[in-house]
Order: sequence, then structure tokens, then C-alpha cells
Amino acid sequence: MSDHKKVVLSGMQPTGMLHLGNYEGALKNWVNLQNSGKYEMYFCIVDWHALTTAYKDPSDLVERIYQIAADYLAAGLDPEKVTIFVQSDVKQHAELHLLLSMITPIPWLERVPSYKEKVEALGLDSYGFLGYPLLQTADIIIYRAEGVPVGKDQLPHLELAREIVRRFNFLYGEVFPEPQAILSDAPYIPGTDRRKMSKSYDNHICMGDPPDVIRKRVMSYYTDETKIYRGDPGHPDRCPVFALLKIYAPDQTEKIKADCESGNPDWGCVKCKKLLAERLIETFKPFREKREQLLSDREQIKKILAEGAERARARAEETMRLVRKAMKMWDAQ
Ligand code: TYM
Repeated sequence: MSDHKKVVLSGMQPTGMLHLGNYEGALKNWVNLQNSGKYEMYFCIVDWHALTTAYKDPSDLVERIYQIAADYLAAGLDPEKVTIFVQSDVKQHAELHLLLSMITPIPWLERVPSYKEKVEALGLDSYGFLGYPLLQTADIIIYRAEGVPVGKDQLPHLELAREIVRRFNFLYGEVFPEPQAILSDAPYIPGTDRRKMSKSYDNHICMGDPPDVIRKRVMSYYTDETKIYRGDPGHPDRCPVFALLKIYAPDQTEKIKADCESGNPDWGCVKCKKLLAERLIETFKPFREKREQLLSDREQIKKILAEGAERARARAEETMRLVRKAMKMWDAQ
């Protein structure tokens, strides 16, 4: 990996199997960026972040890490070209998080939009949960990353990361570049209830789901709420199923749009859903097979993650030396 390449980092929480939102908003773009050959790339599985919410029973965290690693690899990330690793294998993230916590005003963290929402919805109020976006900032800037390929929901976190970088650089001298988001073509994927697709809303479809689960979930989609009967004219641009058909059945969308808008009684929401389900099953068939095969050899996954951690640690430690020196710390002597 050469020095002149722009550094890119991204990460995901190990929530088990990944869903279409994770894939379309981030993972597919990661693979495209990898294949462009233009970047030095780091992809993290953020197990410490998972503990900010699921701290009561971490007993299946290890299994969830294997699951997400299999998703990364089945989607086409190539450990020969990019660095794939687990956050807790690179302790330097925790050191940087701690140092950044000294310079971060609490109101900056309290005003992150997802914070108040989740505190109320999930009854969370831990110190770690408040610091969630700060740990994310450490994940990114410890690689001195300039690009962060994520979905739209992560933009406020990146805004905060830039503010923290500016503050650090102002106080101690220029160490970090300001990281910018890299959005995919589909940075917001709606779930079956029309809200953002998310496991916490239980409105998701996983690429690794068996065909009957995919069919059931797709059939439960809320469509255009103003189209009540089959002959009613609809508004495809307000319909989450249509949003997905644009990705998975682009050859059909022109005709579907015309039929939906004119209220053609021969083409209703059920037909759209059936088409979408079959396209998803077909599109992700090779993905499902690959992930099964990968999960049958966990030693291999473990080896890939261990090698990734070693490469990540080298870059992270290099940055920490710059940080300790800039801050004139005892351990920089
Ligand atoms: P997480 O694990 O919730 O999501 C992982 C990635 O999937 C994207 N995503 C979506 N994109 C479009 N539509 C959706 N419905 C959808 N749902 C999820 C997210 O935008 C994200 O890119 N805070 C991060 C994890 C993290 C991180 C980092 C990310 C920790 N450290 C450093 C980047 C860099 C999160 O919870 O993502």
C-alpha cells in the first residue's frame, strides 16, 4: 500500500447479518471504491460501539463479529487489497478516544440528533453512549482518513468529527485532515414501515435471509399510503418498494411508474412486491452461498481479521506517536 493514496475508513456495528440499508448505503460502495484501486482502505467492525446499547448481554458479540465479517467478504471486500479488522483489536482507538474526550465539550455530544432520540426511546443514558460519536471520530482520524463512505444517517457524526479535528489542530498543531463523507447512489434505504431501514425498528431485510423470509418481509412493506385500491392512481416517488425497484429492477421501472401513476388495474402493489422479492432472491443468491461457505471456516475468518488488525495497528500507532508528540505527553519522550 503506497503512501500517496488517499486514506479511507469506514465501519459497521456487529448486529449479526447485514441488511439492504447497510449494503446499499455503504458496503456496495466500499467494494466499488476498493476496485477503483485509488485508495488505501480500512474497514472496521466496531464491537465497542455495539456495547453502548447491547451491554447487558455481550455473550453473542463474538458470533456477530463472524457474521458481519462473512458479509463484508461475501460482498466482495478483498483482504489482499484492503484492511479488515475488529475495533477492539486496535487498543489505540481507546487511547485516542480518551484524549479527545478531554477537549470535547459535553454540549457538542448532547446535540447530536440521534443522541436525545435514543436516550428517550431506549432509556439509555450511559457515559459510553454519550461518547458514541467521539469513539467514532477516533476510529476515523486515527487512520488520518480523508474519506468515509457511509449512509446519510451518519452525516451528523462526520460533522462532529470535523469540529473535533479543528479543535485538536487549533490546540496542538496540524495532525489530522478533516474527514469528508462519501455517499453512495442510494444513501437512504427505507424499511418495511417506511422509516429508515434498521434492525432496531425490525423493518429490515437481510441479504443473507432465506428466500421465504425475504418474500415475507417484502410483502409486509407499506407502499404509497394514498393508493388504497388497485385502480387508484399512485405516487411511485413516495413508495419505498418503488425506491428498491429502481435498484433491483431498473429494466421495469419506467413501465411500473406509468402503470402506478395512471392506476392501471392490471398492475397493483402486490405485483410490485412480488417482482421485488424475486429480484432480491436472485440478486443475492451468490452472496448467500458465499457467506455460508465462509462461515464454515471460521479459522480462515479469524486469520483475515488478525492480519488486518496488525496492519491497522501499525497505522494507528504511527498516528498516536504524532498525537502524543503534539500534546507533549510524558509517553512521547
Ligand atoms: P451502522 O452499523 O448503523 O450502519 C453501517 C452503515 O450502514 C449505513 N446504513 C444505511 N444506509 C442507507 N440506508 C439505511 N437504511 C441504512 N442503515 C444503515 C450507515 O450509514 C453506515 O454507513 N456509527 C456507525 C458505525 C461506525 C462508523 C465508524 C462508521 C463506528 N465507527 C467510523 C464510519 C466510520 C453506525 O452505527 O453504523
